[in-house]
Amino acid sequence: MPRMRLDKLLAHLNCGSRKEVQAMIRAGRVQVDGAVERDPAAKVDSDSAQVVLDGQEQRYQAQRYYMLNKPAGVITASRDARHDTVLDLFPEEIRRGLFAVGRLDKDTEGLLIVTDDGALSHALMSPSRHVYKVYEAVVEGELLPDAEARFAKGLTLKDGTVCLPACLERLAGEDAQRVRVTLREGKYHQVKRMVAAVGGTVVQLRRVQMGGLPLDPELEAGAFRPLTDAELALLQQPERESV
Ligand code: URA
Repeated sequence: MPRMRLDKLLAHLNCGSRKEVQAMIRAGRVQVDGAVERDPAAKVDSDSAQVVLDGQEQRYQAQRYYMLNKPAGVITASRDARHDTVLDLFPEEIRRGLFAVGRLDKDTEGLLIVTDDGALSHALMSPSRHVYKVYEAVVEGELLPDAEARFAKGLTLKDGTVCLPACLERLAGEDAQRVRVTLREGKYHQVKRMVAAVGGTVVQLRRVQMGGLPLDPELEAGAFRPLTDAELALLQQPERESV
């Protein structure tokens, strides 16, 4: 039976930092198995205890799943001596065991799944599963008139790398040229290299969807929150056949 401190459990459940949840507990806002518990150090069984904060049951998940809106300027790694990483955006209490599913470039923003579920990560990244990813990019330069058709056919990059069929859409914009790119694979710098192959230069890139899961538009850059059960199901659902 995994017993752990109540404050640790609530921080784990992303109810706040360790300090914040300690204040909540002392203020009498937390009930354990029907009784108010004011001791942050009280030991609870994280599998079976019913923990309620402000009237809302907080369920312990053996595995944790977060949606992060990755900001530009941090690298997708667990730890780095020289650069801030996406995991540095998570408080110490909940960071342990977490990793990012896949990788976004340092200057890319947007949807990144952070979890401790290796099996889900493996399934989402497996080349054979072809999970699609949707990006929006600001592009400079003149795209070839038949850029969309070239994406749809499957581009060959300048170094000879062959890409699976993908989708390029030009989005209506004011002065900037914006495109949406949907891919079913994740090669190194793939969007930037594919756009370069049809005459453009990506100057801003943001992932807005992964599989069936869209980025929450309310989630500010640098912020994260746990996935809801419905969102997790969207990630786990089988892929559509084509982009
Ligand atoms: N394609 C890129 O070029 N960069 C990313 O970060 C993701 C996809």
